Amino acid sequence: MVNNILDGKKIASSIQSDIEQQVKTLKQSGVVPGLTVIIVGDNPASITYVTNKKRTSERLGMNSALLELPESTTELELVNKIVELNNDPTVHGILVQLPLPRHIDESKIIHAISPEKDVDGFHPINVGKFVIGEESFLPCTPYGIMEMLHFEGIDVAGKHVVVVGRSNIVGKPMGLMMLKNNATVTYVHSKTVDVSSITKQADILIVAVGKAKFITSEFVKDGAIVIDVGMNRDENGKLCGDVDFENVRNIASFITPVPGGVGPMTITMLMKNTLESAKKLST
Ligand code: GUN
Repeated sequence: MVNNILDGKKIASSIQSDIEQQVKTLKQSGVVPGLTVIIVGDNPASITYVTNKKRTSERLGMNSALLELPESTTELELVNKIVELNNDPTVHGILVQLPLPRHIDESKIIHAISPEKDVDGFHPINVGKFVIGEESFLPCTPYGIMEMLHFEGIDVAGKHVVVVGRSNIVGKPMGLMMLKNNATVTYVHSKTVDVSSITKQADILIVAVGKAKFITSEFVKDGAIVIDVGMNRDENGKLCGDVDFENVRNIASFITPVPGGVGPMTITMLMKNTLESAKKLST
């Protein structure tokens, strides 16, 4: 079988080597990029994600802190912690892992993070700048997907990109990034009528819905590029994406695996944003 796998792990590793070098250089001028990750509560998936973020930043030579706060943390306590980090010159990136417990208003927390340290790119100032084409932190998952395609020499200009899902974290910014790069973009979502008739038109199909193996070959055009953002467990408890990988890989020209596709690229872009933030805040 032809190798049509978009190997996010390999591409991420190559980009991370470059970041590691840049961290070394920056350290010679006395600046160590610092990332603080906050998690509230004990959601097992979130704990895995934040542990990975901390480990990766340490491996690349950054200062890294993981604040594990109890589920009972109040909104005010969390805001106060963020304000403290906003004022800490050794911290260049602040990330509050989502979702938060229900008694905390996510939007208030995102607003509290200084836009200059918002390495997730979720603050309305960064979202707004991005939408009108000004420089800003870009949300890590769609940014990672753009970088992956770029790394593989895939030009999206003029391509029909169909984005399945419209979250603030992935779907919405993904479509806008594609638009900025001259793709023709269609969004498909939970109220879309006849989903497969639209996804079948995609040259590049990006799926971020959080439903295990939702996309089968009936949803995909022959030769399409398929990007799977999902991270789910199948009926046997095995990790799987939103795309039925074995079923779709035979007709896709390229496809990302889960795990080892989009996930490593997301973390890598977080590292890149933190490095860029350290450069900017120290000059
Ligand atoms: N939860 C799922 N993805 C993300 C992400 O990219 N950033 C944060 N902060 N929380 C998330």
